[in-house]
Amino acid sequence: MRDFAQRVIDWQRVHGRHSLPWQGSRDPYRLWLAEVMLQQTQVATVATYYERFLATFPDVGALALAPLDRVLAQWSGLGYYRRAHHLHAAARTVMARHGGTFPSDAATLATLPGVGRSTAAAIAAFATGAPHAILDGNVKRVLARHAGIEGWPGAARVEAALWDLAQARLPQRAGDGAIEAYTQGMMDLGAAVCTRASPRCGECPVAHDCVARRTGRTATLPAPRPVKVLPQRAVHVLAIERGGRLLFERRPARGVWGGLWSLPECPLGVDVHDVARSRFGIVTTKTHSLSAFVHVFTHFRLTLHPLRLAAHDAADHGVDPMTAGAAVDAPRSDGIAWWSRADAEAAGLPAPIRRLLRSFDPTAATAATPAS
Ligand code: ADE
Repeated sequence: MRDFAQRVIDWQRVHGRHSLPWQGSRDPYRLWLAEVMLQQTQVATVATYYERFLATFPDVGALALAPLDRVLAQWSGLGYYRRAHHLHAAARTVMARHGGTFPSDAATLATLPGVGRSTAAAIAAFATGAPHAILDGNVKRVLARHAGIEGWPGAARVEAALWDLAQARLPQRAGDGAIEAYTQGMMDLGAAVCTRASPRCGECPVAHDCVARRTGRTATLPAPRPVKVLPQRAVHVLAIERGGRLLFERRPARGVWGGLWSLPECPLGVDVHDVARSRFGIVTTKTHSLSAFVHVFTHFRLTLHPLRLAAHDAADHGVDPMTAGAAVDAPRSDGIAWWSRADAEAAGLPAPIRRLLRSFDPTAATAATPAS
């Protein structure tokens, strides 16, 4: 297997990607930002967010000084918002503990919130050419197939074997950009050649000694994640409108969509008008129910049942504004705001909520079915 790394390097130099927006920089801040975005998001999506994010927060100091709200707004649409919270916390750590100099060695990088072993290794490799193995989902697939490793790569024992393999396969000699090309090459092979569904083995530089290919197992390696039935939850999502504005609520920092502004939610089966009155001090009248839709989070499936309500001031309807909002079942929230659609877009919303609002144009609204 001595020439495995060299074959990947030679292939990368000719066939790999060379003009991704974060390539060509040795700035660990930029590389860190790209790698964190790429943890759970496709390259094509990341590219636009990355440029915009950098324009807003050109260095770690700018990011650390920004309020979390601004960071979340820039992140909105990328999903997995814990990454944005971690990003902000890591920027503050770099200012507080590292004097504002972004670290570039893998060990220090791995101490930052949201930076795991593979992300730290990738940043260090691209920033300094340090020989550390990466092991993201794509690389796991390449290695599991090439070495014929059975089992789901997320299982601890399988993952440990893959780490050993990833380490053993590193180029023996660094320098001349070998580590950078190898690291990028493993990512590129996984993304473009050794794909999950129909690998292009004819284009692969390591196909001739690939165990999966030689034994006809590219379709079954790596083993898929054991099927886990996600718990189901369902809520109403309330689009409460008044004078062309909608009521938004900032979600608690912990939990899904933590810290993001969103439409209020409440459990199914409660009287939504009571909820509006007790939580927000408003009387709601006209109600439309829209088609339910599902959003899958890491740990559960959420069915959202949107309702459109028209709001009126509670004072006109005998609600005491001193007690409004004091209901015992009110979830904690960090604030409410009445926003135009443009305000909401600027604040940054969870992508499914943004899509819901975009479906509210006059033609889409006719598809709504009046509720009882
Ligand atoms: N996926 C994770 N990191 C990446 C990178 N630097 N380039 C392309 N795809 C990636």
